[in-house]
Amino acid sequence: MEIENKEVLLSAEEIEERVEVLAAQITEDYRGKKPLLIGVLKGAVIFLSDLIRHIKIPVEIDFMAVSSYGADTASSGVVRILKDLEQSIQGKDVLIVEDIVDTGLTLNYLRENLISRGPSSLKVVTLLDKPDRRKVVFEPDYCGFMIPDKFVVGYGLDFDENYRQLADLCILTD
Ligand code: PRP
Repeated sequence: MEIENKEVLLSAEEIEERVEVLAAQITEDYRGKKPLLIGVLKGAVIFLSDLIRHIKIPVEIDFMAVSSYGADTASSGVVRILKDLEQSIQGKDVLIVEDIVDTGLTLNYLRENLISRGPSSLKVVTLLDKPDRRKVVFEPDYCGFMIPDKFVVGYGLDFDENYRQLADLCILTD
């Protein structure tokens, strides 16, 4: 897809290179195991599909969808689960796959929610991290890129549901 008003922050090639490095780390860290990768819809779809194709050990995948917290829940960080997992994660090695950590509220909530289900381990991989926006302390276990506090689209990330299909990660300009 072509759009005029954009500035490339991370090219498709830069992203691919970094995704391969993350996949190699995950391959090593989970050797002998079969982790369950949980993609958080919708933004993480592209990242998850690229990531698993570079992981060299067996994996399973599943998906969750969560609503962004509304004004009333913004401080508590409670999110609504719109689509839950299709299976129990008890005793499993779970790796949450996210496109971006921003305030940290979504992942903080999701991590606590999934830990209560008794996985054997639980880690988080995010392609992007915007630490300047954090409202709660949250450290992803694996991170692709730290990015500045700019509104980014592409590689799965949207503006009003548009631009998810862009191969590069872009900043929208006027
Ligand atoms: C994004 C992202 C995380 C969340 C991070 O999802 O995928 O789930 O926001 O933000 P936080 O750290 O401030 O909680 P979004 O609500 O944009 O939904 P989408 O993935 O369907 O686009």
